[in-house]
Amino acid sequence: MFVTFEGPEGSGKTTQIRLLASWLTERRHDVLMTREPGGTRIGEGIRSILLMPEHTEMHAETEILLFSAARAQIVRQVILPHLAGGGVVLCDRFADSTLAYQGYGRQLHLDTLRMITAFATGGLTPDLTICLDLPVLEGLRRKQSGDAAEWNRMERERLEFQERVRGGFLALAAAEPARWLVLDALQPVETLATEIRARVRSKLSLASNE
Ligand code: TYD
Repeated sequence: MFVTFEGPEGSGKTTQIRLLASWLTERRHDVLMTREPGGTRIGEGIRSILLMPEHTEMHAETEILLFSAARAQIVRQVILPHLAGGGVVLCDRFADSTLAYQGYGRQLHLDTLRMITAFATGGLTPDLTICLDLPVLEGLRRKQSGDAAEWNRMERERLEFQERVRGGFLALAAAEPARWLVLDALQPVETLATEIRARVRSKLSLASNE
């Protein structure tokens, strides 16, 4: 099973991925946790080019191709082999982030992005996508309690951009409700974890009945 976590900045994805990973591991699943952009040596190199705040001259087209290049690598090097071995892959962001950030945020053509993304992933789609949704200002406020000097290039985008990204995730989720679980990320950590486990449990039992 392939599960991805999406959402605007500061939504607490990392905490929930870790909690789900340990819950699945206790139930003897072979769990692999990874993240995008990154997750491979090549992908981590691309990640640093993408996120360096000083790369202000980067064009939107360059950005989408770099995110996609990192994705092409992680799919083939890491995700597909683990799935083929019967394991569960939990990925912090995946192709839906490209549609939300580059499509809705940068306002690039969604159909073009879908084509590039399909080429990069070879058509791999998550079985389940969990969107931790929260108001943009609240997410940025949470990030600010960290060190704002360390904000990456995407986090430095203005508020209207971040609002479009959030709206993008919600639109993507509404278009494919069977794949997405949208949760209010302002809820307590344990409440969110319980809701996520319930959905994962039902997906796993469906899969074992197939
Ligand atoms: P990261 O520090 O991993 O942020 P987060 O903790 O919010 O996931 O940085 C990844 C940034 O890259 C994040 O702002 C989202 C953005 N992004 C895109 O714009 N397009 C993409 O396809 C992906 C995967 C991420």
